[in-house]
Amino acid sequence: MKKAMHLTPQQIVAELDEYIIGQKAAKRSVAIALRNRWRRMNADPEIREEIVPNNILMIGPTGVGKTEIARRLAKLAMAPFIKVEASKFTEVGYVGRDVESMVRDLTEFGITMVKTEMQERVKGKAAEQAQERILDILIPPLNSKDLGFGNLSSNRNTEQAITLTEHGTLPSSDEELNQRTRERFREKLNNGELDDRTIEVEVKKSTSPTMQVFGPGGMEEMGINLQEMLGNLSGKGKTTKRKMTVAEARDILVDEEAEKLINHDDAIQEALERVQKQGIIFIDEVDKIAVSSAGSKGGPDVSRQGVQRDLLPIVEGSTVNTKYGLVKTDHILFIGSGAFHVAKPSDLIPELQGRFPIRVELNSLTEGDFYNILSQPKNALTKQYEAMLASEGVHISFTDEAVKELARIAAEVNEQVENIGARRLHTIMSSLFDELLFAVPDDIKEGNITIDKDYVNQQLESLVKDKDLSQYIL
Ligand SMILES: Nc1ncnc2c1ncn2[C@@H]1O[C@H](COP(=O)(O)OP(=O)(O)OP(=O)(O)O)[C@@H](O)[C@H]1O
Ligand SMILES: [Mg+2]
Repeated sequence: MKKAMHLTPQQIVAELDEYIIGQKAAKRSVAIALRNRWRRMNADPEIREEIVPNNILMIGPTGVGKTEIARRLAKLAMAPFIKVEASKFTEVGYVGRDVESMVRDLTEFGITMVKTEMQERVKGKAAEQAQERILDILIPPLNSKDLGFGNLSSNRNTEQAITLTEHGTLPSSDEELNQRTRERFREKLNNGELDDRTIEVEVKKSTSPTMQVFGPGGMEEMGINLQEMLGNLSGKGKTTKRKMTVAEARDILVDEEAEKLINHDDAIQEALERVQKQGIIFIDEVDKIAVSSAGSKGGPDVSRQGVQRDLLPIVEGSTVNTKYGLVKTDHILFIGSGAFHVAKPSDLIPELQGRFPIRVELNSLTEGDFYNILSQPKNALTKQYEAMLASEGVHISFTDEAVKELARIAAEVNEQVENIGARRLHTIMSSLFDELLFAVPDDIKEGNITIDKDYVNQQLESLVKDKDLSQYIL
């Protein structure tokens, strides 16, 4: 983790290169911004507070990698990250989400992130405890009350009888018999021999996905969480009995035990620190809250400017009340993003423009870029489909011509229908594989399939030729 924070700008770009094709300028800028935050935090305290945060504004058409760059950056910095849409916000006092809620959401993310990491660290211990709990259900220890015995008691007698004969000697007491049986079952459990057996387990009631509740800003600020209040009313925290296999129970109980093993106060402290020092908030559609100089001056414009004003203190550095405690936004990195087709960055209020001093434009993607995007990134779409089909024993490979053809088709459809950037590749690939994904494994069980240019054309030609069709499908 520390290592990730110390990545140099060039190292950051090299990491981003693994996933994002082109967009050199944007990668460079985010790398600088990330490193600048570290520089600022490590600067002489006397001047530290004077250094203005280096937030970025990414400008570029849809589907060219704006969000993807920010998301990857956060991943490699192991930083808490959220993406919000500027147009979803309204001014304080109006209906909608207040701007500060983005900091609360980021904090929520940070808490989950830290807890998950902590649970990962205690997983070994949690697994042991979960195993014991399952053992207690299968063969309750003698001194315990018939907990979980119920319908299994008849089972148990035959199992103990088996143990008896296998050992050959008579146990001297019930207690010893019980001990021996438990030992044998512990072994079987560890070997996975009992994984398919059904048991009844007392598990925490999962929080039912109730509707999402947005309280008015004021209530959230006071630390009152409507969701939680409603949750309590509907009996959250209670347990319920469920039938499941041993294997399923293990998964659930390991999580439950891990949750018990971590210190929640520590988790909150660490999360707050991480959110404040490393958090990244990606604000999409910033252009939608700009007031185009050409546009009309009316109600919506006033409201958009209001949102910008509300945004200002958060981006400048202020303290936001969350239900976990105060969060200072001084070091949170904000990345604004938008197409800015109509409104221009200069249509933002001057103070906000000043808070996003790094501007970077992303280029629209070419056929050549599409070719690279299809084949090079670690998560390239061709690799994704290969992996999916390999799980069924069908091994596909693409000829170079086929990939070139796909890139060509993507560029053509973008030009003729609507330019949605690399998103076009997703729709094209899904059409390309529609038939194959339906045929496997029913008609095609296993083997090797080469996707060549002919196959690409055979699957896509009619769609590309027919404009009406491609509008809907590609
Ligand atoms: N330069 C690129 N290299 C690799 N993949 C890319 C690139 N640009 C876009 N993609 C892929 O295209 C999809 C959409 O990209 P992304 O979400 O970054 O678009 P965006 O620029 O944020 O667009 P919007 O303005 O509509 O939000 C993602 O799946 C991403 O992986
Ligand atoms: Mg985006």
